[in-house]
Formats: sequence, C-alpha cells, structure tokens
Amino acid sequence: MAKIISVVSGKGGTGKSTLSAALSKSLASSNRKVLAIDLDIGLRSLDILLSLENKVVFDFGDILDGKCSIEAAMIPHDSIETLFLLSSPNVVSKSFSIQGLISLIKSLSKSFDFIILDMPAGLGISIIMARELADLNLVVTVPDAITLRDTRKISDAISTNTSRPSRLIINRVSKSALLSSGIKDLDEMIDSVGIPLLGVIPEDEWINSTIPQKRSTKNSITIAKIFDAIGERINGHYVPLIFRQI
Ligand SMILES: Nc1ncnc2c1ncn2[C@@H]1O[C@H](COP(=O)(O)OP(=O)(O)OP(=O)(O)O)[C@@H](O)[C@H]1O
Ligand SMILES: [Mg+2]
Repeated sequence: MAKIISVVSGKGGTGKSTLSAALSKSLASSNRKVLAIDLDIGLRSLDILLSLENKVVFDFGDILDGKCSIEAAMIPHDSIETLFLLSSPNVVSKSFSIQGLISLIKSLSKSFDFIILDMPAGLGISIIMARELADLNLVVTVPDAITLRDTRKISDAISTNTSRPSRLIINRVSKSALLSSGIKDLDEMIDSVGIPLLGVIPEDEWINSTIPQKRSTKNSITIAKIFDAIGERINGHYVPLIFRQI
C-alpha cells in the first residue's frame, strides 16, 4: 500500500504545490512509484509544475463521473518513468463527494509506493483528507507571523483526536525574511507551530523556473538536494538540515 502524504497549509501561497511537485520528482527519481494528485479544484497547478500541462485530458472528476478509466486519467511524466500525475477538475459535478474521492485514492494506493496530495489552502477539504487518509501530513509555512498563526491552527485541527503524524516544512527562508518578520530563528517558528521539523527550504527565485539554464545553476542543485533530503527523511533516514546562508 502506498504511503499517502498530504501537503497542507493554513494560508495560500506557502509553497505546497512547489513542494508536492519537487518531492514527487525526488521520490520517483529514487525508483519509487509515485502518484501526485492535484486536489486544488478549480486552481490546479501541479500540471504546470511537472511540465505536463499539455498532456492533461482527463482528471479525477472524470473518473468519479465515469467519463474515463483510471488509466486514461493517469498522466505519465515525460522523463521520470515512475512518476504519474492525476489532475484536478476546474469544477466538480453535482454528484461529487469527498468520500467518493477518498475511496478512489484508497483504491489507487495499491498501485503506488507514494501518493502525494497537493491540497488547497485552508481548513476545508485538507482537514478531512489529512484526518481520514494521510499517513503523513506535511504542514508548510513561511517565516511570517500571520502565516505561522494559521499554520498552528491547521496543525491543531489536523491533530485533534487523531494519531496521524504531522511534520513542519519551513519554506522561503532567508536572512531578510527572518529580519523583516522579527522572527529570531527556526526554533522560534517550530515552537510557535508545535510540531516536529522535517525540512527547511530557502528562498530561491528560480525554484520553479521553466528556463532550463536558470534551473541548472548552483542554487537549483542545492534546492534539489534539499528536496532529496526531505524525501530521505520521509523514508526514515537521518539527513542533517542543509542550510544555505540562513
Ligand atoms: N522557496 C521558494 N523561494 C521562492 N519562491 C517560492 C518558493 N516556494 C514557492 N515559491 C513561489 O511562491 C509562489 C506560490 O507557490 P505555490 O504555488 O507552490 O504555493 P501554494 O501553497 O501551492 O499556493 P496555493 O495555496 O495558491 O495553492 C509561486 O510563485 C512559487 O514559485
Ligand atoms: Mg497550490
């Protein structure tokens, strides 16, 4: 059965989709069979982040409506053989139910090593999925007091009356972000959210660049290592934090 990892945050724009795409690529590159599912109904982005936007024909809404087979909606990645995307519909039909979606994802888990759920921001569907389905919740935050407060809220909501584990990912970390937010250090952010840290991702303006030359700079090599390290930690290995001038 696949390990199901949900990627959530209280506030929008913290980097959930960026992490979902990069982590899916990293895990699949180490020969695990990975399915990335975009659950941001109406606001999908994983197709672009995985460079598969021209390949999306069907989505999970079509499977649930019986308009296509599961196989027809699975989009294979161009260069990573063991990576697949299941995209999100722009709108769902009247018969859509979250329980139906949960059953679909459970049935898919037999065929993969990892399923990565890229969730929309906020407390709605994320909380249900995180509490009912996820083997691990990655709670993404950025160094900003308001975002940290919302991160605490979503993390508390996920962990109430459930033993499903959550881990913190602090994204967009830089000296200037810490300075301008008045946050002293990483420990202060970990303490304010109250869940263990799994990874720290630095601010990197080329993180999702579609310009290959920019992606192959020294920075993006470091960033790739950071996502690999997060993947390794998910697999239970100890990998020290990789800091870059923080
Ligand atoms: N470490 C980073 N450094 C610089 N920019 C980043 C970083 N992580 C994400 N971004 C940028 O932040 C923006 C939001 O990222 P992303 O779409 O991954 O967030 P999200 O949490 O999925 O947003 P939403 O809640 O709208 O789904 C994007 O423009 C992305 O390129
Ligand atoms: Mg997103």
